[in-house]
Amino acid sequence: MKLRTIIVIIVSLFSYRIVFCGEGMWLPILLKSLNEKEMKSMGMKISADDIYNINKGSLKDAIVQFGGGCTSEIISNQSLLLTNHHCGYGYIQSNTTLEHNYLRDGFWAQVRSEEIPCPGLTATLIVSMEDVTSKILQGVDKSWDENKRRNKVDENTEKLKLVLPKLKDQDVLIRSFYNGNQYFAFIIEVFKDVRFVGAPPESIGKFGSDTDNWVWPRHTGDFSLFRIYANKDNRPAEYSKDNKPYTPKHFLPVSMSGVETGDFTMVFGFPGRTTEYLTEEASRQQIEVLNPVRISLRDKTLKILDKHMRADERTKIQYAAKYAGIANAWKKWIGENLGMKTTNGLEKKHRADEEFKKRVNANPAYSDYKNLVQDLDFLYRRLEPFAKSREFYAETFNRNIDLVNFYQLQKRLMDTYEGRGEATFNAKKNDALINIEGYFKNFNSAIDQEIFAALLEQFHKEMNPAFVFNYLKDELKKYNNNYMAFTKDLYASSSMTNKDSLAAMLSLDYKAWMDKVKADKLWIFYDELNYYLANDITKMCGDLEDQIADLKRKHMAALMEVMPEKKFYPDANSTLRVTYGKVEGYHPRDGVQYLAQTTLDGVMEKYIPGDYEFDVPKKLQLLYKNKDYGIYGEDGKMPLAFIGSNHTTGGNSGSPAIDGQGNLIGLNFDRVWEGTMSDINYDPSICRNIMVDARYILFIIDKFAGAPWLVKEMQLVYPKKKKSKK
Ligand code: ARG
Ligand code: ASP
Repeated sequence: MKLRTIIVIIVSLFSYRIVFCGEGMWLPILLKSLNEKEMKSMGMKISADDIYNINKGSLKDAIVQFGGGCTSEIISNQSLLLTNHHCGYGYIQSNTTLEHNYLRDGFWAQVRSEEIPCPGLTATLIVSMEDVTSKILQGVDKSWDENKRRNKVDENTEKLKLVLPKLKDQDVLIRSFYNGNQYFAFIIEVFKDVRFVGAPPESIGKFGSDTDNWVWPRHTGDFSLFRIYANKDNRPAEYSKDNKPYTPKHFLPVSMSGVETGDFTMVFGFPGRTTEYLTEEASRQQIEVLNPVRISLRDKTLKILDKHMRADERTKIQYAAKYAGIANAWKKWIGENLGMKTTNGLEKKHRADEEFKKRVNANPAYSDYKNLVQDLDFLYRRLEPFAKSREFYAETFNRNIDLVNFYQLQKRLMDTYEGRGEATFNAKKNDALINIEGYFKNFNSAIDQEIFAALLEQFHKEMNPAFVFNYLKDELKKYNNNYMAFTKDLYASSSMTNKDSLAAMLSLDYKAWMDKVKADKLWIFYDELNYYLANDITKMCGDLEDQIADLKRKHMAALMEVMPEKKFYPDANSTLRVTYGKVEGYHPRDGVQYLAQTTLDGVMEKYIPGDYEFDVPKKLQLLYKNKDYGIYGEDGKMPLAFIGSNHTTGGNSGSPAIDGQGNLIGLNFDRVWEGTMSDINYDPSICRNIMVDARYILFIIDKFAGAPWLVKEMQLVYPKKKKSKK
């Protein structure tokens, strides 16, 4: 018994040490109790109270959710907003015309009146957060199944939203944490007048493009600038030319001191989704079953796209954004699988499951938890064929081709008619007609067909025939499994894939339109597909995933009870989190050590004249040649990017990297190749986030773009004593 206690203590000390280096995405409201001490021991000078406080301006008041999926931060008292180039990309692109190519040339407002409104873009601030678990779970019985529980939780959520104190122009969000064991309510302010202020050319903001994506050492100036506007009372409002820059409760001063290996860093933002507590079986499914399906279908898509994009400049422009989107996740999944292998991730999951089982078996008080892991494994194995098919369907028919958009347009119109009546339907149909160019601007039918036929072939050859919908089976039989012939007919016989015939279709009145749509081959194809998918695949997945959700919640609670020595952080769920670590390099493989920082020198090392990924603007070359770095350089070099052991994920893009005093030192935008498995298996030895050095951002704004007025409105600080030159 004694020996066992000693072993447990040793094991827990060991796992505590592992948790130490940077792992965790913490709730700002809980920093004081869970993290402050550790953060201070790592070099933080401010207190948890300076990070999150609802009674005075604190760091959290400078952290802004940018649109739906990124983070940004306020860096001046006039709400200059800093985020990534790849987060602002859509707005930079939509303002790009042939005369003003902001993607290629960059854009810089020289006065405030030149800042460009971005309809649809929102900036969300968190006013306060509160634990509402008991209110949300009121009346919920432990014995209920997931469906019944969810209905009650939804009902309680709606009720609570009505009574939580807030101002008229504020909103409430309620989110579940620890797989449904805890709930927090957030009072938020959504600003709708957000304007585009500036961005470097792609050759800086996207330097290295897809080749360098997810890779260290990195040399991308991945930033862009926006500004939040408010009404005359400094409150959120729709766009108006009378709006004024919002006066924030707090903004981040920008540090000019730079970073050194070992410095404390924290990243504050809105991480999207992680699944750190999966069992071995669930992780295996991700790595060995689902990722390979996604990767192999995207391999095909990307090869076809690349071939056409290299051959034709117009195609390259048309498909650049789409390619980047498909390639980003594709590359991440490849890295995730590699990383799981090199870190023995599944083995680690196995040991965690075993440790849990052992502790449960050793204590009669835990008897309810005895079969949790086995039951979860059983459900995951049942889910596997359905989940795999779901991925196959999604990648083949929805994610990699544009064809589906034409079907979805009609589907949306049909739903509008049913839900909102004929007048709204007519208005929406008219909108679609007016904007019809948009559907064809980046659509190349021949390329789309080539991809569709290639994916369809793989789908048909690799899918379990029991999961192929009958309509497709019959059709392919008719075409003797000639995938291209089937594809050609599908595209050619539809009125939706051609601008003129689609316009004619959208000009019809409801009855005639409906007849036409229902007889269209493309409509019939997707309608059959979706009917099958909904009834035979998605429903099955949903039922099993409900049961899994129920067990996962119990498993999470049991883990926390059975391993009291471990600090558990909730998986990411797009809510505000703090993660902290240090500036540090890493050792990716035998014989190789990566430094923590890069400089402009590396841009010139990678420079390939005229290349679409590695070209360098003339002006930047000149600044480099003359070492004209102004006040931003250090010891004759221009610092560019750095890495640290902060635990980040998708959604953290655009998050500020903050020093121990609360100043901005960098801008988060990516993770390193060897550590892309961090969403499933964070490994402190090789998981690093990548940040643009704040000084490089200022250098580009001031020296490269000639927009010093923007730097002037920031507060530059020098928290470290000047380092002695070596
Ligand atoms: N990998 C980063 C993230 O997941 C950056 C993506 C944007 N850059 C790119 N080359 N596609 O979003
Ligand atoms: N690049 C990601 C983002 O856009 C960040 C990451 O996945 O590390 O949010």
